[in-house]
Amino acid sequence: MKKMVYLLAIISLITVLSLTACGGGSERLSQSGENNTGVVQAAEAPATVGDSAAGQKLFASTCSACHGPAGEGLPGLGKDMTTSEFIAGKSDDELVAFIKVGRDPSDPLNTTGVAMPPKGGNPALSEEDLYHLVAYMRTIHKQ
Ligand code: HEC
Repeated sequence: MKKMVYLLAIISLITVLSLTACGGGSERLSQSGENNTGVVQAAEAPATVGDSAAGQKLFASTCSACHGPAGEGLPGLGKDMTTSEFIAGKSDDELVAFIKVGRDPSDPLNTTGVAMPPKGGNPALSEEDLYHLVAYMRTIHKQ
C-alpha cells in the first residue's frame, strides 16, 4: 500500500514537471510572436507621402509655365514630365532634393541649355509642398 502512495506521488510529480515544461515552451512561443509583430510594425513606419491634389494646384501656379499645363513640356522651356525617365528612376526624397536645387545650364546633366530654377523659381514652396508636387508628378507620369 505504501508503494502505491509513492508511485502516485512520483506520477503526480512527473505530471507537474511536464506541465511546467510545456508552459515554459508556450511562453517562449508567444514571446517570439510578439517580437515578430514588433518587427512588422517597424517596417510599416509611415513614409512622407504628398497629396497629389494639393500638388496639382502648386504645379499649376509654379511649374506649368515651363512644363505645360499637364506636365507635357513646352518647346524651349521645361521638359516633358509624363515620359521622363529621370522622374521614374528617382525616389520621392531624391526628386524633392532635385527640385530644391533645380538644374542650371552649366550642370552636365542639363540637356536643353535652359535652366530649371531652384524650386521652379518659387522660394515660398515648403518641404511639404515639394512632396505634394512629387505626388502629382507621379500621377501624370505614363509608364
Ligand atoms: C523657368 C522654367 C521652369 C520652371 C518654372 C520649372 N521648371 Fe522644371 N525644368 C525646367 C527645364 C528647362 C528643365 C530641363 C533642364 C535640362 O535641360 O535638363 C526642367 C527639368 C525638371 C525636372 C527634371 C526632368 C527630367 O526629365 O530631367 C523636374 C523633375 C522638374 N523640372 C520639376 C519642376 C517642378 C516640380 C517645378 C515647379 C515647382 C518646375 N520644374 C518648374 C524649367 C522649369
